[in-house]
Amino acid sequence: MKECVIIDGVRTANARAHAKKGWFRNKRPDELLTAVYDALFERNPKIKPEDVEAVFCGTANQSGMQNDIARLAWLAGGFPESVATTGICQQCPSGMSATEHAARAIMCGERDIYIASGVEDMQHVPMAFAMDFPPRLANRYKMEEIPMGPTAEKVAELWKVAREDQEKMAYWSHKRAAEATKAGKFKREIVPIEGEKEDGTKFIVDRDQWIRENVSMETMATMQPAFKPDGVVTAATSSPLTTGACALLLMSRDKADELGLEYHLKYVAGAMAGCDPTIMGIGPLYAARKLLDRVGFTVNDIDVWELNEAFGSQSVAVLRELGLGENAPFENVNVWGGALALGHPLGESGARIIITLNNIMKTDYKDAKYGVAMLCGGFGNANATLWQNVNKE
Ligand SMILES: CC(C)(COP(=O)(O)OP(=O)(O)OC[C@H]1O[C@@H](n2cnc3c(N)ncnc32)[C@H](O)[C@@H]1OP(=O)(O)O)[C@@H](O)C(=O)NCCC(=O)NCCS
Repeated sequence: MKECVIIDGVRTANARAHAKKGWFRNKRPDELLTAVYDALFERNPKIKPEDVEAVFCGTANQSGMQNDIARLAWLAGGFPESVATTGICQQCPSGMSATEHAARAIMCGERDIYIASGVEDMQHVPMAFAMDFPPRLANRYKMEEIPMGPTAEKVAELWKVAREDQEKMAYWSHKRAAEATKAGKFKREIVPIEGEKEDGTKFIVDRDQWIRENVSMETMATMQPAFKPDGVVTAATSSPLTTGACALLLMSRDKADELGLEYHLKYVAGAMAGCDPTIMGIGPLYAARKLLDRVGFTVNDIDVWELNEAFGSQSVAVLRELGLGENAPFENVNVWGGALALGHPLGESGARIIITLNNIMKTDYKDAKYGVAMLCGGFGNANATLWQNVNKE
């Protein structure tokens, strides 16, 4: 079996998905995707677009501007028609799934060079846009428990995650993300793109819009519940509506060596797990356990974790159940912040956390041997992937 390594990963900044306040409110998602593909080729001049065997792109809501965006963005961006594209929909894990598809194709020797990507514009294509649920689903589930907010409430109730503990998760997410941004840590991955401030002034967007430098436990405690009057989940403890795109250049290790390209991480394994959609946020627990069992590891073998923070409640529940601590700040988890602060452009985030993990393991955790990236997904799919530092074999 061949080995798959990460050559590079780039992303747009994550912008607020808001028609008046979002920095990318006048950009289309295909333009954002083209920008990250362009950046990959600019940063890696030895690779031409026609050298890529195929492009995988994760998007949770493939309708409207995001209908077959994998193909249409590639063509609209002027890239070669001969390169095939595949759109992947697995709700939030779509971008991770895209990465796993590419890694598996490389490992089984189909070809050497692939792009894995993800995009979601939650302003132009809002969550559940054009959704038409199978009526028979109501025979099996309470339909009011299927949307994401109610699942976060249910996880909080079943796993007894107090509102304050969710707010601690959000607090540390913002603190760490603000610190990482200030220290320039995301510069390696964010492609600067022109956007617009709230007043319409054009500027170069090179930082994530949702991060709150002055996050406050006191302010969060005053916020109204977002999903039910007596609920414990607020806008502060939910990942915010976000727009963003990212792309990874993945290659067989043989090819990377032949071309003299540098790399730090190789893909070791991935696991998908399904669960009850009404508690979808707990999914990463099952995916991570499956992944660790498969390779014969325990949580102690993993040096650094990236967990997509869909909600504070599910993040705390998953991390507690895995034995990674009781409350935020969780050591070695989301060390540059997570989606509560950075935002969560649904189908993009699974690939984004792999890009961030790669950069964390190249810099602050360069002696770390293993990293895991994992996330939950709407309707009860979750993925976890294991990556190894090639200098620690
Ligand atoms: C929770 C949710 C409904 C809130 O949406 P909304 O009502 O549009 O609210 P916003 O996110 O715009 O936040 C409302 C206000 O609270 C503010 N706010 C958010 N977090 C805050 C914090 N930590 N501290 C202080 N204020 C905060 C916002 O800035 C905004 O105020 P502003 O417009 O003056 O800036 C929405 O973010 C949501 O649905 N999130 C979950 C998305 C999801 O399901 N993703 C998939 C997960 S699997």
